[in-house]
Amino acid sequence: MSTPIPQPPGTFFIGNLNEIDSTYTLGSLQRLHKLYGDIYRLTILGKNLVIVSSQEIINFLCDESKFDKDLGKPLIELRALTGDGLFTAHTSEPNWKLAHKILLPAFGPNAIRGMFPEMMDIATQLILRWERYAGEEIDVCDNFTRLTLDTIALCSFDYRFNSFYQNKMHHFVDAMVNILSESGNRARRLPLQNTLMRGTAKQYNDDIAYIHKLCDEIVQQRREHPNDINDLLNRMIKGKDPDTGYHLSDENIRYQMVTFLIAGHETTSGLLSFTFYYLLKNPHVLQKVQAEADQYDEITIDTLPKLKYIDAVLKETLRLQPTAPAFGLRLKEDKTVLPGGYEVTNNERLLVLLPQLHRDPKVWDRPEEFLPERMLDGGFENLPPNAWKPFGNGQRGCIGRSFAMQESVLAVALILKHFNIEFVDPSYDLRVKQTLTIKPEGLKMRVRPRHRAKTALNMNIKQSEKIPIDTQLLETNNLKPMSILFGSNSGSCESFAGILASEAPINGFNATIATLDSAIGSLPCDRPIIIVTASYEGKPCDNAKQFVAYLESKPELKINYAVFGAGHHDWVTTYQKIPTYIDDMIEKAGGTRIIKRGVGDAAGDFFGEFEAWKENLFQVLRKTLGFQNVISQEKLSIEIVNSTRNLGQITDVGIVKDNKLLVEASELGPAKRHIEIELPKGQTYRTGDYLAILPTNPAEVVQRVFKRFDLSADTQIKILSTTETFLPTGYPVSASEILTGYVELTQPISRKQVETLATLCNDEKEKTQLESLGGDAYQAEILNKRLSTLDILELYPSCDLSFPQYLRMLPSLRVRQYSISSSPLWNSEAVTLTIDILDAPAISGHGRYYGVASNYLASLKTGDRLSCSVRASNVNFHLPVDTTVPIVMFAAGTGISPFRGFIQERAAQMVCGREVGPTILYFGCRSQKDFLYSDELEKWSKIGAIQVKSIFSRESNDGKKYVQDLVWEDRTFITKLYSEGARFYTCGSATKLSGGMKTCFIKIIEEYKQCDETKAAEIFEKICTSRYSVDVFT
Ligand SMILES: Cc1cc2nc3c(=O)[nH]c(=O)nc-3n(C[C@H](O)[C@H](O)[C@H](O)COP(=O)(O)OP(=O)(O)OC[C@H]3O[C@@H](n4cnc5c(N)ncnc54)[C@H](O)[C@@H]3O)c2cc1C
Ligand code: HEM
Ligand SMILES: Cc1cc2nc3c(=O)[nH]c(=O)nc-3n(C[C@H](O)[C@H](O)[C@H](O)COP(=O)(O)O)c2cc1C
Repeated sequence: MSTPIPQPPGTFFIGNLNEIDSTYTLGSLQRLHKLYGDIYRLTILGKNLVIVSSQEIINFLCDESKFDKDLGKPLIELRALTGDGLFTAHTSEPNWKLAHKILLPAFGPNAIRGMFPEMMDIATQLILRWERYAGEEIDVCDNFTRLTLDTIALCSFDYRFNSFYQNKMHHFVDAMVNILSESGNRARRLPLQNTLMRGTAKQYNDDIAYIHKLCDEIVQQRREHPNDINDLLNRMIKGKDPDTGYHLSDENIRYQMVTFLIAGHETTSGLLSFTFYYLLKNPHVLQKVQAEADQYDEITIDTLPKLKYIDAVLKETLRLQPTAPAFGLRLKEDKTVLPGGYEVTNNERLLVLLPQLHRDPKVWDRPEEFLPERMLDGGFENLPPNAWKPFGNGQRGCIGRSFAMQESVLAVALILKHFNIEFVDPSYDLRVKQTLTIKPEGLKMRVRPRHRAKTALNMNIKQSEKIPIDTQLLETNNLKPMSILFGSNSGSCESFAGILASEAPINGFNATIATLDSAIGSLPCDRPIIIVTASYEGKPCDNAKQFVAYLESKPELKINYAVFGAGHHDWVTTYQKIPTYIDDMIEKAGGTRIIKRGVGDAAGDFFGEFEAWKENLFQVLRKTLGFQNVISQEKLSIEIVNSTRNLGQITDVGIVKDNKLLVEASELGPAKRHIEIELPKGQTYRTGDYLAILPTNPAEVVQRVFKRFDLSADTQIKILSTTETFLPTGYPVSASEILTGYVELTQPISRKQVETLATLCNDEKEKTQLESLGGDAYQAEILNKRLSTLDILELYPSCDLSFPQYLRMLPSLRVRQYSISSSPLWNSEAVTLTIDILDAPAISGHGRYYGVASNYLASLKTGDRLSCSVRASNVNFHLPVDTTVPIVMFAAGTGISPFRGFIQERAAQMVCGREVGPTILYFGCRSQKDFLYSDELEKWSKIGAIQVKSIFSRESNDGKKYVQDLVWEDRTFITKLYSEGARFYTCGSATKLSGGMKTCFIKIIEEYKQCDETKAAEIFEKICTSRYSVDVFT
C-alpha cells in the first residue's frame, strides 16, 4: 500500500488553482509546504504537480537514470524567445546534445579563468560609479543587474551594454522582464484568452523581436569582423561536434545567445543582491569578509580561490535564497514509489522546491540562520547527497556555475575592499520578489569609500535647506568640527543626537550627525566624537551592529570621545550593555574619554540624565576650547530642538480591515482590542514578527496644549532652524499638525526642565514649589507620577514659557511596536494585533492618561490608513522549522499575541495532515472575563492542536495566582517536555512575567539537577541561548 500524497481540497475544473498567487508562486508553494509538509500534490486545470522538499526524496529524484528535466508551462512559453537553447530545450532534442557538447568546454576552468580581465573590467566600472554615488542611496538589484548583464555580454560575445554609463537600464532588461512575466501569465491563461489579449500579445512579440534582432546584429557584426578570441560566440559560430561534424544553426545560435544573456545575469545579480542583504544583516560576517579581502593588496585571478570565506558566504546565500528557486523533473518510467511510500507516475510533473530543501531540518542545524561557517572546514563537502542544489541537477544542471561563482567572488571582494556599506533603512526586512528568479525587493544601501576619513563622515548628512534664525546667525567659520554618532531603533538616541547637534554651535562646535555604522573605518582624530546609543536584548541597535563588530576587530582608535547610553533597567543582566561595551572598547583601542559615560534609564529621569550629561560635556569641551557662549540664553531658548530623526522612516501604508473590542475596560484592567490590518503592498511576515506603527497623539492632549498656549487648531507656525530637525522647517504648518504628528506630549518632564520652568514662574510661590520639585522631590513627585511638561504648565499657570520654548522641550514622536498575533498561513497579506488600550486615570492624579499608540489604534475604523511596517523579531522567537518539536508558551494578558499566531499556524498544519508536536500554552489572565480568545483556544484544543493551562489571578486557585505558580506545580511535566527537546517561549511584561518565569525555572533546575542556585542560574543562561526565548513589551 502506498502512502497517500497530501493535497489541498480543490474546486471543480480549476482544481487547486486558487491556492496559487500568480504574482508570487514561490510564496504560495512555501505556504503550502508549511501546511502539507515535504511532499504534496496540486491539480491545476487537470494537470498534476507534485511538490517535494525533503533531502531524502529529492536525493531519490536526482537519479538521472530514473528522472529527467521537465519544462513547466512557463518555460514552454518562454521557448518563443529561447527556442531550443540549452535552458528551454528538452533533453531529447538533438540541439540540446549538440550545443551541450560544443559549449561545455567554454565554461570549463581554463575558459572561465581566461574571462577574468573582462569580469574585472565591468566590476571596476561599478566601483567607479559607486565612488560617485558615495553616501547616496544605491538600488542594489539595479546595480547588480547592470554588473552581471554587462559581464556576461562582454565575456560571451565581446559586446558592451555600457550600463554603468547610462542612467536608464538598457532596454534589453525591460524587454526581458516583460517576456519573463508574460510567459508566466500565458502559462496560467487558457489559449483562447492569450489570443484575445491582442495588446499584450503585440507587446510580447515586439519584445521578443527586439531581443532577437539585438542578438542577430551581434552575430552579423562578428561575421563581418571576425576575430580569433576564444569566446562563446566564436565557439558557437565555429564549433563542431567532434563525432558528427555538425555545427549550430544560425537560429540556434540566436537562441543560445538569448539564453546566456538571460540565464547568465538574472540569477547572479539576485545572488549578489541577497549576499549584500545578508552581509548587512550580519555585521560579524561582513567584518570577516572584509578582513579576508583586505589580506590581499589586489584582487587577481590567483587571489580568487583563496577567498574561501567569501565562497562560503555565497554558498550560504544560495542555500537560503536559491535564485532559481525550483526545477522540474518527470519520471522516465510509468510509475515509481518514492521514499516514504509515495507513488508517482510519469503523468505528473515533480517540482523540487529549493528554499525548503535547503532548510530541511534533518540536514541543516538552525536552518533559518545565515551561518557561512557551516560551508567551511569540510562542512560543504560532508553534506548528505543532493542536499544543496541551487544549480540544478546532473547533465541539465547549470552550465554557468563556475562563471557565476567567479564573477560573484570577485564582485564581493572588490566592493568590500573599496567600500563600507550600510542599509539605507536599517530596519529593512527581506521582501522577496519573484519573476522566473527571485530578488530582494526594495533593498537599498549606502556605500562609503574606505580609508578616507574626512569625506566619509560628512556624507551621511542630507543637505536639506537650512534656514538660519535671523538674529542668531552663527559664524560657522569660527566653529570647530564635532562628530555625533548614534545607534537607535526607536528614535530616542537619534533624538538625543539631534539635541546635541543643535546646541553644538552655541558651544563652539559645528556638528555632523551620522549613524554609528556609517562611521566604520573613518573615525576622525581631529574632533570630539560623541556617541549616543542603546542596547536591545544586550545587542546593538540595527544601525550600530556593524560598528560593534568593527570594534571587535580591535582597530587602533586615537580619538577623543564620549558615550551616552540609553537603556532600561528592566533588562537587568544586559542593562547598558552596548554603551558600556563601546565605551570600554574605544578606550582599549587607544581612545581618550572626554567625560565619563552618561547613563539614561528610560524608566527613570531619562531626559534629565541626558541633559545633565550634555551640560557637563559642553562645559568640559568649552573649557578645552577656551570658548564662551556666542548667543544669549534668551535667544537659545527660542531655537527649535533639532534631530535628524526622520519620522517618515515608516513610509509604507497599511489599511485597517477590522477593529473589534475583545474585552471592555473594567476594574480588572484596560480594554483589549483585536485589529486586523492589511499590510503595505509587498510586505510579508513570519509568525512571531512585529508591526511597527507611527501613531498620532490623542486629540484630548493636543487640545490641552492649545488651551494652555492660547492657540487655535488652525494656528499656522513657521519653524526656522540652523540645523536639521525632525520638524518641518521653512514653510507654514498648522500647530495642530506638529502637535499631533511630530512630538511626544506626555513623557515625564526632566529635572533640568523643571528647573528651567521654575525660573520662568512669575508667581514666587509657584517658583519655590517648582524649585523643590526639581530637587530631592523629583523622583517621587515627578518621575513616579509621570508628570509631563504639559501637566506642570497646567499646574503652574504663572510659568511664562513660550510655545517655541515648549516645542523645543519635546522629543520626537516614537514608533511603537506590536507583536503580530496571526500567522501568514491564515493570511500572508494581513496581520492581526492584540492590544491593551491604555486609558486610565493618570498616576499623577491629574486628569486621564491616554497611551499614544494604543488609543490611536483603538480609534481607527475599517478602511482607515496607517503608517506601519513589519519588523523582524528576535531570531529565536519563531516556531521551530521542524513541526514535530514540542513547544511550550508562557503568556499573560496580551502577551498571548505572538502565541495566537504560533497556535494558528500549528492548527492549520495539523488540519492539513502534518505531524505536529505537542503545543502547550500556559496563560495567565485576571478572570474568565478577560480570558482572551477563549473560543478559539477551545476550538483548537478540541482538534488537539493545543493544550491550554490557564490561571486567573483574581479568582481563587488554591493559593496559585500566576503562570509561574502553575508551572512550578507542573514541573515534572515541564522537565519531561524539556528532555523531549521542547522549545520554550515567554511573552508579556519584563518584570512581572519574564522575571517570575526566570526565578521559577532556576528553582526547577535546582531541584531537578540537585544543584545550588548559582549553578542553576548558569544552566538557565545556557538554555536561554538555544531553547528558551523571551519577548517583552516594556
Ligand atoms: C517588542 C514589543 C511587542 C509589543 N507587543 C504588544 C502587543 O502585542 N500588545 C500590546 O498591547 N502591547 C504591545 N507592546 C507594547 C506597545 O508597544 C506599547 O508600548 C503600548 O501599547 C503602550 O504604548 P502607547 O503609545 O499607547 O503608550 P505611551 O504613550 O507610550 O505610554 C506608555 C507609558 O505610560 C506609562 N503609564 C501607564 N499607565 C499610566 C498612567 N495611568 N498614568 C501615567 N502614565 C502611565 C507607562 O509606564 C509607559 O511608560 C509591545 C512592545 C514591544 C517592545
Ligand atoms: C547564481 C547564479 C546561477 C544560478 C543560481 C543558476 C541556476 C541554474 C539552475 C537551477 C539551472 C537548472 C534549471 C532546470 O533544471 O530547469 C540552470 C541551468 C542553466 N544555467 Fe544557470 N544559474 C546561474 C548562473 C548562470 C550563468 C552565469 C549562466 C551562463 C553563463 C547560466 C546558464 C545556464 C544554462 C545555459 C542552463 C541550462 C543548462 C542545460 O540544461 O543544459 N547560469 N541554472
Ligand atoms: C525589545 C527591547 C529590548 C531591550 N533590551 C535592552 C537591554 O538589553 N539593555 C538595556 O539597557 N536596555 C534595553 N532596552 C531598552 C532600550 O535600550 C531603551 O528603550 C532605549 O531608550 C532605546 O533607544 P532607541 O529609542 O534610540 O532605540 C530594550 C528595549 C526593548 C524594546
